[in-house]
Amino acid sequence: MTAGKILVVDDDSNLLEVIRMRLESAKYDVVTAEREEEALNALKEDVIDMSVIDLQLEKTDGITLMENLHRINPDVPVIILTAYGTIESAVEAMRKGAYSYLTKPFDPRELLFQIDHAMEKRRLTSEVKRLQGLLEEKYDFSNIIARSDKMQKVLANVSLFAKTDSTVFIHGESGTGKELIARAIHLGSGRKEGPFVAINCAAIPENLLESELFGYERGAFTGAVQSTKGLFTQAHEGTLFLDEIGDMPFLLQSKILRVLQDRQVYPLGCKKPVDVDVRIIVATNKDLQKEVEKGNFRQDLFYRVHVIPVNLPPLREKKEDISSLVEHFLEKFGQKMKKKVKGLTPQAMQKLMLHDWPGNVRELENTIEFAMAMTQSNIISEELILQTNIQSPDKFKPFKEAKSAFEKEYLLNLLKLTQGNVSKASDLAGKYRADFYQLLKKYDLKPEEHKK
Ligand SMILES: Nc1ncnc2c1ncn2[C@@H]1O[C@H](COP(=O)(O)OP(=O)(O)OP(=O)(O)O)[C@@H](O)[C@H]1O
Ligand SMILES: [Mg+2]
Repeated sequence: MTAGKILVVDDDSNLLEVIRMRLESAKYDVVTAEREEEALNALKEDVIDMSVIDLQLEKTDGITLMENLHRINPDVPVIILTAYGTIESAVEAMRKGAYSYLTKPFDPRELLFQIDHAMEKRRLTSEVKRLQGLLEEKYDFSNIIARSDKMQKVLANVSLFAKTDSTVFIHGESGTGKELIARAIHLGSGRKEGPFVAINCAAIPENLLESELFGYERGAFTGAVQSTKGLFTQAHEGTLFLDEIGDMPFLLQSKILRVLQDRQVYPLGCKKPVDVDVRIIVATNKDLQKEVEKGNFRQDLFYRVHVIPVNLPPLREKKEDISSLVEHFLEKFGQKMKKKVKGLTPQAMQKLMLHDWPGNVRELENTIEFAMAMTQSNIISEELILQTNIQSPDKFKPFKEAKSAFEKEYLLNLLKLTQGNVSKASDLAGKYRADFYQLLKKYDLKPEEHKK
């Protein structure tokens, strides 16, 4: 790699050659021009990092050339060379945007020194610009519905830290969108061209998890006929999503911790470590702090992964998102099923609003998918919503009604179990026979119907 490309403009070809040799030996790429037109052509063809321009060119002066150059790229630092050393022209050059000036004859070491400085400043300027760009950049979260304040906050935070390489810890009940957010973080990062590799730590048998994660050498164990890359290595230069990290077997936790500390993996049967450059995102629906207290999760690993926490609210705490989510899913399944459904009846919508959503957004998504598949009109009715598994009305029965329903069910089960033997049944319930009879009467239950 070169240290940068420098355009040198001077009508003295001997001086040009001297400067070229000096700069090239300092690892710079050099483009030279004796005339203004040549210089401007060079600018159009090449990306120039900085320029050295003689004040007194054949046709025009160096300041005009500098101004033309800055019209093409205002960030290019320019050092002006002047044979006359008049303070006025130097000051004018500086006022018009020159980085510095040198009086001929000059010490080539001085030129190099100034060039190094200008290049360093340019690197800093572009870094600052890049960082500013990061703050201003809006990510495209178009597939994530976030009308509620809670979700808005989540997305605002995500857009701030997505570009960093910091480990993200996503917590949320099942179906709250943990994987969706993990993918959005990856896509909002500089690693988006790299792979996104996800593994569900709860779904893979313990004895396979290690070889899945770290890979293995040929012959590492029976059946290892071919060396295989682990997920860490597959995610190199991308993102590794460790889902359900709370379910990771305890012994494996210390191995993961080591990888996260050293950024190196040892494939099974391999003595040499392999370097890995991955961004880690973990997710869990457990209270991991509690798991640490219970001794199920290593505290050191908890601290290592709990760097940037993201808490996804359950659907019951962001009900204002429901109607937008419904619209989103109508659109999604409409395309998939090639069906046009306009919306839900107000009664159907109300059912959705009253439901408690233990399965969160996924449950809502499934509900809409089912209703869309079943509907024969372009509007989804309350009946279709009720046919899905959501049972909101029951959940909100008044206490007295719920208690009666429970008692009746309980007594019925006792009668079935004891085949209508009231002594046994009342014993099991811890009730006097007389009281038990009272209860049976209240619910109109007949023991003799259960005798065999
Ligand atoms: N805010 C949202 N906007 C749009 N779709 C969402 C949103 N949140 C979740 N979903 C959708 O809901 C479904 C479940 O989301 P996801 O799989 O990311 O949840 P999860 O928290 O990982 O669930 P689990 O704990 O069961 O693994 C997905 O189809 C996802 O696209
Ligand atoms: Mg998930």
